[in-house]
Amino acid sequence: MKINSAEFIISNSDVKKCPNEPLPEYAFIGRSNVGKSSLINMLTNHKNLAKTSGKPGKTQLINHFKINQNWYLVDLPGYGYARVSKKTKEVFQKFITDYFETREQLVCAFILIDIRLEAQKIDLEFINYLGEAQVPFCIVFTKADKIGKVQAQKNIAAYKKKVLANGWEEMPQHFVTSSLESTGRDELLNFIGDINDQ
Ligand code: GTP
Ligand code: MG
Repeated sequence: MKINSAEFIISNSDVKKCPNEPLPEYAFIGRSNVGKSSLINMLTNHKNLAKTSGKPGKTQLINHFKINQNWYLVDLPGYGYARVSKKTKEVFQKFITDYFETREQLVCAFILIDIRLEAQKIDLEFINYLGEAQVPFCIVFTKADKIGKVQAQKNIAAYKKKVLANGWEEMPQHFVTSSLESTGRDELLNFIGDINDQ
């Protein structure tokens, strides 16, 4: 799918105030600093559409970006960032879970996982949470430019084992990406395009 236009529409912490048009949307979630905002910029070919930072905790709100005037990409705050105070963290969690549990426009969530790391408990918990909430999702491995292809395949195989041990019958559909090198861009955009065309 070609991206002809991408524009920021609104940020907020209340799912009820998200755009109320009946357009399909795709949300990016994962630990702070995993590369959610960078992936949105890579997919849309815009350097600074979504704000990124080397420091975790940059995105703090639900951000809607309208693509080709007929669907949305949604950038969300990261979870699991220990330096955010407990109270703020609870607020994140409440509006994030409200988003996933009530947003009718949500077609598919992408859970981002740093391809370099061993499976983290918080991600496995979030995968199970989305499963229980019956939210369709895929896994997106990020920062693939930081390791070699062989190591990447080994890490994905190890991740799959953890997901199966965590109660899943099969590994969810997954993508390998690098926002630095635009790896995985066509695959992700075609996946979204195919759903939008259905
Ligand atoms: P929060 O909004 O804080 O939750 O973070 P985020 O998940 O949106 O991460 P963000 O996109 O801000 O990126 C975090 C850091 O990782 C930045 O320094 C990015 O430049 C870097 N980064 C993101 N994606 C990639 C990638 O594919 N390759 C490399 N090498 N660095 C990346
Ligand atoms: Mg961000």
